[in-house]
Amino acid sequence: MEHKSTASQDLLLPLHSNQTSYVLAVVGGRYVTQRYWGQATESLDALAAVTSDTAPYLTTQTLADGRTLSLDRLPLEYPTLGAGRLGPTACTTRFSDGARTTRLEYRGHSYGTQPELPVGMPLLRPDHELGGATCLRVELVGTRGLALQLHYATFDNAAVLLRWARFVNHSEEPFAITDPAAAWVGLPAADYERVYLAGRWAHERQVLRAPLVSGLQRIESSGGATGHQGSPFVAVCASGADEQQGRVYAAALSYSGNYWAAAGCNQYDAAELGLGVAKLETTLLPGESFDTPGAVLVHSDAGFGGMSAAYHDFVRRGVTPRGARAGRRVVINTWEAMYFDVSEHNTAAFAEQATPLGAELLVLDDGWFSQRRDDTSSLGDWDTNTERFPAGLGGAQQAVGRHGLDFGIWMEPEMVSPDSRLATEHPDWVLGDPQQPAALGRGQLILDLANPEVIDHLIGEVGRVIRESQATHVKWDMNRNMSDAYSRALTPEQQGEAMHRYILGLYRLLGQLTTEFPQVTFEGCAGGGGRIDLALAHFHPRFWTSDMTDAYERLEIQYGSTLVMPPELLGAHVSTVPNHQIGRSTPARTRVLAALAFWYGFELDPARETQADREIYAWGAELFRRHRDEMAEARFVRLAGTLGAAVGSGRRAADRAWMLVGAKHVFVFWFAVLAEPDSVPRFLRLPSLPAGWYRDQATGLRYDAALLGSRGLALDPPQHDYAAQHWILERAE
Ligand code: GLA
Repeated sequence: MEHKSTASQDLLLPLHSNQTSYVLAVVGGRYVTQRYWGQATESLDALAAVTSDTAPYLTTQTLADGRTLSLDRLPLEYPTLGAGRLGPTACTTRFSDGARTTRLEYRGHSYGTQPELPVGMPLLRPDHELGGATCLRVELVGTRGLALQLHYATFDNAAVLLRWARFVNHSEEPFAITDPAAAWVGLPAADYERVYLAGRWAHERQVLRAPLVSGLQRIESSGGATGHQGSPFVAVCASGADEQQGRVYAAALSYSGNYWAAAGCNQYDAAELGLGVAKLETTLLPGESFDTPGAVLVHSDAGFGGMSAAYHDFVRRGVTPRGARAGRRVVINTWEAMYFDVSEHNTAAFAEQATPLGAELLVLDDGWFSQRRDDTSSLGDWDTNTERFPAGLGGAQQAVGRHGLDFGIWMEPEMVSPDSRLATEHPDWVLGDPQQPAALGRGQLILDLANPEVIDHLIGEVGRVIRESQATHVKWDMNRNMSDAYSRALTPEQQGEAMHRYILGLYRLLGQLTTEFPQVTFEGCAGGGGRIDLALAHFHPRFWTSDMTDAYERLEIQYGSTLVMPPELLGAHVSTVPNHQIGRSTPARTRVLAALAFWYGFELDPARETQADREIYAWGAELFRRHRDEMAEARFVRLAGTLGAAVGSGRRAADRAWMLVGAKHVFVFWFAVLAEPDSVPRFLRLPSLPAGWYRDQATGLRYDAALLGSRGLALDPPQHDYAAQHWILERAE
């Protein structure tokens, strides 16, 4: 598959997916660079043409064919310090003789059809539906026995490029690698912007956009999880790119621990982007290897909408377990209804009230175990509190079942309270620096998942709770970040990997549990949305998107979350008003509509709601149940928001809108934030609908795709703040 037609051309290593080509060039037989990333092309001769490239004050290399070039001018696939590289590097190296530099040169490559995957880190499910794969492995060697393999995979029916790297130590001495990139990409000079996700607790995944300027702009996490503060994702786009048009280059890391994600311009205004593991130092002994997690790269010429479509498709057909997105049950959760005041009696009464709302699954949240009455105790001691649940969890499950509801249970398996039996019996199982007192977060400590004994213990405990409760849903929570991470199970040389090995342990734990309990849905939660990523989507077909349940605040959180994640994986609950986190009151209909395109559920006590509101909540559940499977396969399109507005003038810039284009229906949702005086009629454009006719279920009006794309749907002028409107359009003949 490699391409080289004349002696004066560089060896090209092309990769083609159904929409894009990614072409590597081995410059002068030595330097592995990227020559092209864009729409699928066959113009390989033009791409293979060699060039010399250097500039004043750069270090130069003279190649065997007489060319002179400088590494700082080349879009290297994995830049390291050495041989004249002045810009940022994809990792840092440290050898036993003290050397910090290494020059990576091409040694060989091979193509295949079976993706090689990083060991222990989920990237692609084995029974993926992405079509035939083209896989490339490029071998590079550095100094002092360092070898690097760069792995790539593309698929016939997917628009993604998978990448990761493996370091191997072929020497007799150890060496260390710090913060290795999973992928690094150089892009031609142009006017670019950077888009990334940032936030905080209850304010996750806010979309930020800024000009790409000189120097590397980097976000990272260091608390052992991806965190609320950011997401392992970065995109570089042509300035002016929006949801429908413009070039976007994006990368998301399939990893749940400390990450870095960076983009910037080098001294020649050429852009670079990369992402990898942060706060990691791994020491490779002779013969050992280290795999980075995988990165999922997307190139789109159709703006951010095209980018997200590629990610959603990848998650659906390459990540989330087959079948897990069908039949998503309407959830009702006890947390905001009861907080820690849970008992069999309360739960049974709650279930009785939940059934008329259309709930199908009751999740018993925090407070059911040991002495847990608030968030200061009992984590780790997963025995049922029999004062509250005299017939055990089995009794609670039966009480709930009598009202026709399935039963789910909350657990926070990775955590331990300082006063728990578990912490007292196994102080060495707690992650923390033996030289200083551990910092508490929400009053709790973290178990050391780098310790295989802890993993075995947790497999036993979670399994026991599932068997006792007959739960078919586990809300798997993780409510604090790591600090002073030191693992008593690791050697001094391995401590630089403590947080990474924790994450490997987490994958093993979740892998075993999901295999042992295929009937159970494991929902991922981390103080809301503090750990949502492509790797965990292999185990969690549902994430609790955020602890913020106010409908208006949720709009931006959900909007940003769909940059990479498809909406059907994102839990969205209708909560009561005034909202518990922010005190805001929004109309019941708006709260329902804000949740409907996602995984619908409730976070309220039905007994305290008005009859009128209960009817609206039940109407939402009925709509969701009728259309959930079609929605889970539908194309999700953001219509109005930070990355592009499809509504009237900029004065309505705060509006949010999205649609789901399903096989039979188009579900459209529009959220106006503030009402305005004397507002003029406005329209919501629905771009890129398949040609044909669409009939509005509510009015019977028929629209063709052209009218919907050019003028759009007429919006009702908002009569009050936080108004929302929805349409269900049937595809008609
Ligand atoms: C976290 C979760 C909430 C709830 C509480 C229970 O904050 O995000 O949904 O489960 O823990 O303590």
